[in-house]
Formats: sequence, C-alpha cells, structure tokens
Amino acid sequence: MEDAKEEIRARLPVEDVIGQYIELKRAGRSLKGHSPWGTDRTPSFMVSPEKGIWHDFSSNKGGDIFAFIMEMEGLTFREALEKLAEQAGVELKRYSGGDKAFAKHKERLYEALELATKYYQFCLTKNKAVCEYVFYKRNMNKKTVENFRVGYAPSSGRALVDFLTKRGFTKKEMEDAGLLNRFGGDLFKGRMTIPLMDVGGRIIGFTARILTNDKNSPKYLNTPETVLYNKGRHIFGLSQAKDSIRRSEFVVVVEGNMDVISSHQAGVCEAVATAGTAMTENHLKSFSRMTNDIRLAYDGDEAGVRAAERAVQMASKFGIYLSVVDDYHGCKDADELIQKNPEYWHQAVRDCRPALEWLLEKYQAKYDLKTEKGFQEYCTEAKRLISQLDEKDTVLREKYERIVSERLGISLEAFREQKIELPKKKLKKPSADLSKSMNTGPSRAQKYLAALAKFGGVEVDEDLVIDGVSDDELELIFEQEFAKHSSEERKNDVETLSKRVQLEFISSERKRLSAAIEKAEADGNDEEMRRLMLEMNKLIKK
Ligand code: UTP
Ligand code: MN
Repeated sequence: MEDAKEEIRARLPVEDVIGQYIELKRAGRSLKGHSPWGTDRTPSFMVSPEKGIWHDFSSNKGGDIFAFIMEMEGLTFREALEKLAEQAGVELKRYSGGDKAFAKHKERLYEALELATKYYQFCLTKNKAVCEYVFYKRNMNKKTVENFRVGYAPSSGRALVDFLTKRGFTKKEMEDAGLLNRFGGDLFKGRMTIPLMDVGGRIIGFTARILTNDKNSPKYLNTPETVLYNKGRHIFGLSQAKDSIRRSEFVVVVEGNMDVISSHQAGVCEAVATAGTAMTENHLKSFSRMTNDIRLAYDGDEAGVRAAERAVQMASKFGIYLSVVDDYHGCKDADELIQKNPEYWHQAVRDCRPALEWLLEKYQAKYDLKTEKGFQEYCTEAKRLISQLDEKDTVLREKYERIVSERLGISLEAFREQKIELPKKKLKKPSADLSKSMNTGPSRAQKYLAALAKFGGVEVDEDLVIDGVSDDELELIFEQEFAKHSSEERKNDVETLSKRVQLEFISSERKRLSAAIEKAEADGNDEEMRRLMLEMNKLIKK
C-alpha cells in the first residue's frame, strides 16, 4: 500500500492534480488559488510543489494529493487511491485484494454467529430445566423468546466448536467471531444465550447468563470486542425497538438486557439498553437520529445519578429532551417492576420527569439546606447543572433558576449573581495522543501556535506546542499568516492562540475523562472511578 502511494505521488505532481479543480497562480515558491470550500476574497489556498502538499487557510485543511481528492470528491481513502492510481497508470491489483478479502471474512463471521444462534435456539428446546428457567423463572413467553432469539449454550465445553467445525468453519473464524475462550473451547457454557444484533437484526455477538445465582462466576458473559461488535456503539434491542421508537417518538433507555426483553413483552417496545456500559456520545447520537425524546430508566442510586448527569452534559449539544423514569415502586429494575405489574411500567414511562428537574431534586435531598455549608454546596451544584443548558435555552434556564432560587429562599438576581469559584492551575502539555483520541487531528490554533514557535522568533510556552505536524506544513502556514507581522504583532498572536489552545485542551480533557469514567464504571473499578471523578471535578472548576 505504501509503495502504491509513493508510486502515484511520484507520477502525479500536486499542482497538476489540484490544477484540475482550481486555477492556480505562481506566488514565489508556491502556487495560490481560491479555496474550493471557503468564501475567501483573496486567494487562501496554497500549494507547495516542492513539498508535494497543500494547505487551505480558509478551512484549515491540508495534506497531500490523496487528502485533497478525499476532501474534494467526498471519497474514502481507498476510493481516492483508486481514482489517482488510474490517473497515474499505477496497477493497484498487486497491492489490493485486502479489502475484499476482509469483507468476505466478515461475511463468514456473520454466518458463524447466525448458525451459532440457531444452534443455541435448538438446544433450548431440548433442555427442560433451561426451558423452566426461561419460561417460568424469567417469565418470557414463546413470542418473546422467538423475537429475541433466546437460546441455551450446552455445558460440555466443545459443543459449539464441534458443531461449527462440522459446518466448515475454521478455528480462526470462530475466534474472530468471539465464540471461543482462551483455550480454544466454547466461550459460552451452560448459559442462557441472548444474541446481540445490529440495527438490521444481524447477529454480532452474545450475552449469556448463568442459570443460578452462583456468586463465583460472572452473571453475564459477553462477546469480547470483535470486528463486528463494538461495545461503545452497540445498542441492545434496537433492531426490535426502532419502528416503535419512530412511531411513538421517544426511546426508553434501561439498564439491563433483561429489562429490554421484559419491557417489550409488556408492550413498551421503545426500550433499548446500552448494556454493560454507561451511555456514550455515540449512543446518544444514534438515538438523536430517531427521536429527541430520550427517557432514561436508570437506578436512582449514586451511579444512576452520575449516569444521568453525564447524559445531561452530552445531551445539551444534540438538542435532546432528556428525562428520567424513576417511579419503580421500590423495585430494583424495570424487569422486577414489570413482573410485579406491567401497568406500573407503562405508568412510570409516561410519568417521566425532565432530567434536570430530577437531578436538582436529588441534590436537594443530598445537602442539608439549613446549614450554610449545605446551602452553598447545593447552590454551586445547581449553578453548575444549569450552566450545562445550551446558551440559547434562555427560557429553560430561567425556569430552573427560578425553581432553585425559590427553593433556597433567595431572589432570582442573587442566585444569578453568585459566582462559582474557578481556581487557576497550570495546564499540562496536550500530548500527541490527545489529538489522536479526539480523532480530528491538531486544531487550527495548535498548528498556528506551533508554526509561530518554530519560525516566528517569538517565545511560546513549550507546554502548548504540539508535535506531529510536519515542518513543511508549519512553514507554509507561517509564510502565509505571520511572515508579514511585526514582532509585536506576533507576540499578540501568541497570546490569543495560547488561550485558545488551553481552552481546547480543557474541553478535550473532559471528553477523555468521561470516556475513562465510562470504562471504569463498566469494568466495575470503583477505585479508579473515584479517582477519575475527582480529576473531573478539578477540571470542571477550571
Ligand atoms: P444487572 O445486574 O442489572 O443485570 O446488570 P439484569 O439485566 O438485571 O440481569 P438479571 O435480571 O439479574 O438477569 C445490567 C447489565 O450489565 C451487564 C449486562 O449487560 C446486564 O444486562 N452485566 C451485568 C454484565 O455484562 N456482566 C455481569 O456480570 C453483570
Ligand atoms: Mn434484572
């Protein structure tokens, strides 16, 4: 692949490739033109034939010929490669085949998982004790068992491996599908199996429950992350729930897979779960494509409050109405409530409350408002919560500010004027890892600051200078943006850009921490969780 890229690069000068789309004029050692994406009045698109790269100053995009074609034509890297290979007359065949083979391999994994599901379904019908558990103990009816394709993994240890081997599947395929344990035997043994499906209903993995309350082995075993199953994106029950969600225009997010199954059986078919992990931004994004009415049915305990709070933080960005289902009649989860009386569940989902209102109440219960300390702390927490509302939500903001100030017995103005302390602290260096985890590459401010540090002859706080951008690109940026600035102006530039980079750093640290917290929570690592929450609190105070 690298060879193919180099070959194509050598044959196609950057100015020729770009010249097909943009009129370029020579300007010293570079060429200049108008940005194809911006609305620049003066040419802001630069090409450096020597270096084989381009940079668009109106959109902060830049790179080589492949990056240009990807941006210009909206292609994937692979597609851009193919297009340019053709222009250059380079035979890709020698290098390719990789993607096709991979797609084929994935297809095989789907087939293995589908067959495994059928096999487990069959095994359930043959085992009386397990049927007893599924149909009586868990109270599923036949339709539910079929709809969710519930099954049973035999306890022998090799049953599935032998079955799939006979059907022509290799060990590698079984392993890649996440069906094997580390000894090469069946991963799921003696458990009730519930397949995990993608939105289209294709099987991508399993979650499997022990049939007893044996405290020595984990209650659920799940497929590890595979090429088909991504824990942070998967939504359990979505393929069964999606039509109802669209029709009813709301989604109910419950905690466990069994809660989803019971909920559907009870007729609340809008239920899904982000089982095993706290809700991520990916989950929220998926929901927001279907509806903006998201109802969280989490436990009212500490973890539930924290989960709701994180969701509120994320939701403000997506224009979502978040509410909380909390009337469990003393039951520990939706499933238990439904077993008690399905009508209670319908009622609870109908009577959900705005998440912010619910959270404010939880905090009120936590602090003793009669003491000055409790009063202050509640006031701070409330301000922090309300500040998470989108800036444009002035009406909602006022509504909650009123609620809280009334509760505190103070005027709306006094509450508004109360400042939260923001202690200052020196920032750590944003690492190259950080920009990778953001998945967007270095920001414009980071690049500009690095360009000034390298070529500007001015002092820049080393901690804020990223590496990873080529000197070529930095030089191009410098020549274009700062070469004509006086040293006084450059100092100003540095100051503005430094502030910007620090702010970006705080915001990406927040993202990193939330992800780490989610992971710690999923792993049940309470100690790590506490540590991370402390770190997060410190950051929020900045
Ligand atoms: P719960 O313990 O609330 O499970 O965990 P549940 O759904 O109520 O299960 P039942 O009713 O006891 O059968 C919630 C979710 O956390 C994940 C599962 O996805 C479960 O649905 N989990 C829990 C695991 O992955 N492994 C475990 O050992 C426990
Ligand atoms: Mn349960």
